[in-house]
Amino acid sequence: VLPGEHVYDGVLFFGYSPPDILDAVKNFRVRDDDVFIVSYPKAGTTWMQEILWLVVHDGDFETASKTPIYFRSPFLEFKDLTLNEVGLDIAHGMRSPRVIKSHLPFRLMPKKLDKSKVVVVFRNPKDVSVSYYNFYKSSSSFGDFTGTWRDFLIMFLTGKVDHGSWFDFTISWWKRRHEPNVLLVFYEDMKRNLKGEIRKIANFIGKHDLSEDVITRIANHCTFDNMKKNPMTNHEDVYSINSKISPLLRKGKIGDWKNQYSVSQNEDFDAVYKEKMKDIDIPFRYEW
Ligand code: PPS
Repeated sequence: VLPGEHVYDGVLFFGYSPPDILDAVKNFRVRDDDVFIVSYPKAGTTWMQEILWLVVHDGDFETASKTPIYFRSPFLEFKDLTLNEVGLDIAHGMRSPRVIKSHLPFRLMPKKLDKSKVVVVFRNPKDVSVSYYNFYKSSSSFGDFTGTWRDFLIMFLTGKVDHGSWFDFTISWWKRRHEPNVLLVFYEDMKRNLKGEIRKIANFIGKHDLSEDVITRIANHCTFDNMKKNPMTNHEDVYSINSKISPLLRKGKIGDWKNQYSVSQNEDFDAVYKEKMKDIDIPFRYEW
């Protein structure tokens, strides 16, 4: 049985990120060649994990076909008492270079991050909220949520969801986008031009010599359809996710929020966005 939700330094978490783990994350021993993937939940984390793992390992499709992505790329603030699986322990035991996933806002990340690379993924928050709602329904990690979409949207807009406010997360990383060890990538750009974004990511982590052929193969391996079919990436074996209710790879589209938001919910969202993001101008260009 997972313990319930708790608030840590103003951010709401569920039992899989308990306070002792969040404390330990701050002192996590970072290596210079670590690559972190940081994203708010449902922004395209798994997609980026598979891409980055393959880029870092020069297109090692052989290993990628044998080990689930959550073991190749551990989740920093994750502890599952049922499976006795702790992200920090997996990371500690890994050979370099490591590809590590986190959903934390900047202030909760390991203190010494400045030498390793950080790839931040942003996605249109309306699509994030719809994806997150479906995940809340299908996952047992969130106290068996049975609320409506309307309930969830209020929770999302007020930051009362796992890993806290999208706005706080996004502002904390947006402010760091120009730091030399930070690369900001948009989900929507990946949808539009996957090979171009993979090349950008490869250059950022110093893999300038990755061949065009490997980049093309990674892009092909990481399409939505291929990752959905792939048992190493689709999470269909994860006990806490009921894929029959909603699979992790659900639709993978830009603008699906239009099928979920009512006109007035969209207006409410825009009003909250305008207020919270008033000093920030993030170019969510597509299907806004
Ligand atoms: S998690 O649990 O927070 O790590 O989830 P995360 O991986 O961030 O987000 C899941 C959404 O990402 C979509 N996804 C993809 N889209 C396009 N192409 C590929 N290859 C891909 N892989 C994952 C996934 O479908 C979820 O979005 P929705 O809108 O729910 O389909």
